[in-house]
Amino acid sequence: MTTRTPLMAGNWKMNLDWKQGLALVEELGEQLKEVDTSLVETVVLPPFVDLRTVQVAVDAGKLPIAYGAQDLSAHESGAYTGEVSGSMLKALGCTYVAVGHSERRQYHGEDEQVTGAKVKAAFAAGLIPILCVGEPLEERQAGRHVEHTLAQLEGGIDGLNAEQAKQIVIAYEPVWAIGTGEVATPEDAQEVCSAIRGALRSLHGDEVADAVRVLYGGSVKSSNVAELMTKQDVDGALVGGASLKAEEFAKIVGYQG
Ligand code: 13P
Repeated sequence: MTTRTPLMAGNWKMNLDWKQGLALVEELGEQLKEVDTSLVETVVLPPFVDLRTVQVAVDAGKLPIAYGAQDLSAHESGAYTGEVSGSMLKALGCTYVAVGHSERRQYHGEDEQVTGAKVKAAFAAGLIPILCVGEPLEERQAGRHVEHTLAQLEGGIDGLNAEQAKQIVIAYEPVWAIGTGEVATPEDAQEVCSAIRGALRSLHGDEVADAVRVLYGGSVKSSNVAELMTKQDVDGALVGGASLKAEEFAKIVGYQG
């Protein structure tokens, strides 16, 4: 159990065009009427091209949903073809932005230097980064999952001040659990989430460590979320596939029954 406000974030990845995204967010708004949304923060991370539509739908319906992007440029503006800046996202009403998702690390070569720069760019634009960290299968099999994850954490938060460190959200997503249906056990999730909080404590002290929300991600569903949430250092979930269905995602948000 945690005194931090739990956060359930739906990463839509490269799914749903703006019309489908609109339908999902409106349906999610309906489904959330059955849930006490004062207990949990609900976030969606749609593709860039859906964000304006999501903004209009959330504003018009006064929906209890915050939103953000799945990535941002490390640069402020200028000749960076194809990139989207933090200030552009802020202008769309985004609160959050994911940084360093394993799919960005794997397919776009994003290393600690890039994720560190993106985390700073997010803060500079007034966004809250959701820094994603987690080990591939080989590292877990070699018993190096904590070490690997903490190296990604430390690279991503390097140079932040205490005020920024306090606001960041960390998502522990073991790569072998993403999209595989193989969820980490609550004990596995707790082991690494607690190590993440411990590293934050040594770097920034108790106030920061006790404030930061550490999420678990990887095959989270309505059927396994409640058990994961019993763990002391698990403050929420970053959900892929199961966030694409309004009813299922609303059940995840409403895990407390
Ligand atoms: P799945 O929930 O589909 O395993 O995806 C997890 C994830 O990568 C969320 O960012």
